[in-house]
Amino acid sequence: MFFPEYRPRRLRRTEEIRALVRETHLTVNDLIYPLFICEGKGIKQEIRSMPGIYRFSIDEVLKEIEEVMNLGIKAVILFGIPDKKDEVGTSAYVKDGIIQRAVRKIKQKFPKLVVITDVCMCEYTSHGHCGIIRNGEVDNDLTLEQLAKIAVSHAKAGADIVAPSDMMDGRVARIREALDEAGFPNVAIMSYSVKYCSSFYGPFREAAESAPKFGDRRSYQMDPANSREALREAYLDVEEGADIIMVKPAMPYLDIIKMLRSEFNHPIAAYQVSGEYAMIKAAGKLGFLDEERVMWESLISIKRAGADLIITYFAKEVAKLLKKA
Ligand code: PBG
Repeated sequence: MFFPEYRPRRLRRTEEIRALVRETHLTVNDLIYPLFICEGKGIKQEIRSMPGIYRFSIDEVLKEIEEVMNLGIKAVILFGIPDKKDEVGTSAYVKDGIIQRAVRKIKQKFPKLVVITDVCMCEYTSHGHCGIIRNGEVDNDLTLEQLAKIAVSHAKAGADIVAPSDMMDGRVARIREALDEAGFPNVAIMSYSVKYCSSFYGPFREAAESAPKFGDRRSYQMDPANSREALREAYLDVEEGADIIMVKPAMPYLDIIKMLRSEFNHPIAAYQVSGEYAMIKAAGKLGFLDEERVMWESLISIKRAGADLIITYFAKEVAKLLKKA
């Protein structure tokens, strides 16, 4: 049937009708809120390029989490900013590292909160790369051993889910094996399966002080021009035991989210990264865009593409909107 018999506008007439036929919904259960945690006391320091996002000391992050939970958000992902960095990222897996202490405190106070930890070395190495450097290159297999230690140390502290973001080959299998051996068969792995070498990470690197001191991450993170490679990466991670697979960044890679959705039955997470957030915030501040509407539209598009979970710096703002609705 065609016009004039069929008129698609009939179902767009009122907000009530539109709500009845709406295909995609964003709920507070979809959201994961990223938090940056640093050493010290009483610290809540705003990140210049990410308005509304802060570095928190452990005492302050507990207050923030109280607010996050009151908004109904059920999961956070933690990034540590240590005081000490060295060549091999030792501070990433010591018992009293920033993340290990933070997780213990957070879990003690908020046992129901889903605590996800980012497993990577770039915030902890003096050179800022996501692995151990040998002969001027990031050495894959040496790095796997460090990643396994980091993941186990997070599990020991009480993390529910570990999220390796390094893009070394074979890390999901190595981490799964290490977690199981250490007595943590129930700690899940959310793998940054398809992580592109993206310029959209700029503000994060400022926040986490994790920019590489030489070179770039192109020898381990993926080339933005590739999509078939994304499938290969995701297959490997699923085979190796990933419980949740992730695509990162989100909005410039909606095609990849959609592709993984049609290939896999695993939960799919998407990371709306720092640069995506910064762009929307900046345009909003300049009055070039309606920030709130663009935020909503960007998140709905990520869900529509097929993501089940979204890691987003907008989580609190979205949760507030959902509460009002
Ligand atoms: C660590 C890591 C990065 C991000 C998450 N985990 C930075 C990077 O790979 O350089 C970026 C997140 C964001 O931009 O919000 N490897």
